Amino acid sequence: MAVGSITGPFIVLALSLLLASLQPSVAASSTAWTEIAEIKASDASSYSAFGFSVAADATTAIVGAYQSNKMGDDAGAAYIISLKNDHWQQTAELAGSGIAAQSAFGKAVDIDGDTVVVGAPHDTAVYVFVDVSGQWLQQAKIQAPGSAAGFGSSVAVSGDVLVIGAPQANAGRVFIFHRSAGVWMLNTTLSPPSESAGYFGAAVAFDSYSVAVGAHDSFSPGTVSVFIPRSGSWAVQSVVHAPSGHANDFFGGAVAVDGEHMLVGASHHSGDHSLSGAAYAFTRTGTVWTLKQTLEPDTVAEGQMLGASVCLCEAGAWIGMPGYAENQGAAVVFKLKQGRWTRTAMATATGGDVGDLFGFALAVGADVAFVGSYGIDDEAGRVLVFGPPTAPTAPGDGNNLPMSMLLLLGIAAFILVALVVVLLMIIAVGLALALIALTSLLPRGSSVHGDGEEALETLLSTAV
Ligand SMILES: *[C@@H]1O[C@H](CO)[C@@H](O)[C@H](O)[C@H]1NC(C)=O
Repeated sequence: MAVGSITGPFIVLALSLLLASLQPSVAASSTAWTEIAEIKASDASSYSAFGFSVAADATTAIVGAYQSNKMGDDAGAAYIISLKNDHWQQTAELAGSGIAAQSAFGKAVDIDGDTVVVGAPHDTAVYVFVDVSGQWLQQAKIQAPGSAAGFGSSVAVSGDVLVIGAPQANAGRVFIFHRSAGVWMLNTTLSPPSESAGYFGAAVAFDSYSVAVGAHDSFSPGTVSVFIPRSGSWAVQSVVHAPSGHANDFFGGAVAVDGEHMLVGASHHSGDHSLSGAAYAFTRTGTVWTLKQTLEPDTVAEGQMLGASVCLCEAGAWIGMPGYAENQGAAVVFKLKQGRWTRTAMATATGGDVGDLFGFALAVGADVAFVGSYGIDDEAGRVLVFGPPTAPTAPGDGNNLPMSMLLLLGIAAFILVALVVVLLMIIAVGLALALIALTSLLPRGSSVHGDGEEALETLLSTAV
C-alpha cells in the first residue's frame, strides 16, 4: 500500500512529461520547412559562386556558378539538381560549346519543364539546353542582337517563349524570343517606357502571359514595367512604381509574377533601419496593378536586405534576406490566407555562418525549396534544399496519431512502473523473511537491538 501511494504521483509525472515533450513538436510541424539536403558542386572550388543564381521547376533545379574557372577564367558553370535514389543531388553539369573565359555563364538561370536557359552576360549570350531522355543537350546559343550590353543578365522562360534582359544596353532593353521547331527567333525588343527607371531589364519574370521587367538606377527607387501580348506583339500594360522610398532602393532588383499577383523586392531600401530592404505584394484588377501589402519578417533589422530574391509559387511567397545576422542570411515564407499574405515561417541554414549569404537567390518547386548560399566556403557556394511543413490535417486527424502514441507510451510506462513495484515487493518480502530467519538463529540476550538501546540511553543521559 505504501509503495502504491509513491508510484501513483510518479506515473502522473511521467505521463505529463511525455505530454509536454510531444506537444511542441506537433505545433511546430504545421509551419516549419526543414532542411533536407545541402549541395555543393561536384567540382566545387573557392570563388566560383555556386548558388549565385537558382531556378526551379517542379522537381528540378538549375544552379549557376558564374565565377567558376573550370571552362576558363571566370567562364562560369551551371548544374542540375534533382532527386535521384531518394536524395537531392547534383545530377548533371551543363556543358555547352562556345563557353569561353570571362563569359559569366550562370549569372542568371531559369527552367521550365525540359528547357533550361543560362545567361552569360559578359559574352552577351544566352544558352538553351533541353532534356533529351535524361541528357541535357545544348539547343542554342543566342547571341545579343546588336551586341546589346548585359544581354543575359536576367532570363525567364515559359513554354516556347524566352525573355532576356540587357540592362546595360543604353537605358536597358528586353528581348523576347519564340521557339518554333527547336529554333529560337527574335519576336520583339522592348524598350523602357518613358516612366521606367534606367537599367531596364535588371530582372525579368514571365508566367506565360505577363512579362514583368525590373529597372532601377541611382536617380529613383526603381520601377517594374508589365507587358502583355497584344495584336501579334507585346505592349506595355502598366509601369509600377515603388510605394515609397529613395533613389537607389533597387525596387525591381528582384521580381516574380504569377497570374494576378506580383512580388517586387527593393533590397537596398532603408526605412527605419538602414538597408533593411523591403518586399511588396501587388495585385492586378483588370489592367491596374495596386499595392496589396508590404511583406516583412517579424523583426526588421539593419542590413537584412530583404527582397534580394523573391519567388511566387504554389507553396506561397518566398523572400530572401541575405544580409540577415551579419550576412548569414534567411528567407521568410508567406502564404495567401483569405486574401491576405500571412507570414508562416522563416528558413535559415542549420549551422549557418557569418557571410554565407543564404537567400541571395532562391527558387521553389513542388514541395521543395532551393536556397542559394554562395558565400559559403570562400564563395565556393552551396544550395540548401528544404522540405515543406507536414500538410495541415483536420483537427481530429491531426490528433489521432500523437494521442494513440501517447496512450501506447503511457501503457508502457505503467507496465514498467508496475514491474518495478512488484520487484521491490519481492525484494522486501525476501529481506523480511531473511531477517526473521536470522533473528531466530541468534542467541537470546545478545541482540544488536540491545546494544543499540543502551547506546541511545547513554546518548540521551549525556544530552540531559
Ligand atoms: C510574337 O509574340 C506575340 C505575342 O505572344 C505572338 O502573338 C506572335 O505570334 C509572335 N510572333 C512570332 C513571329 O513568333
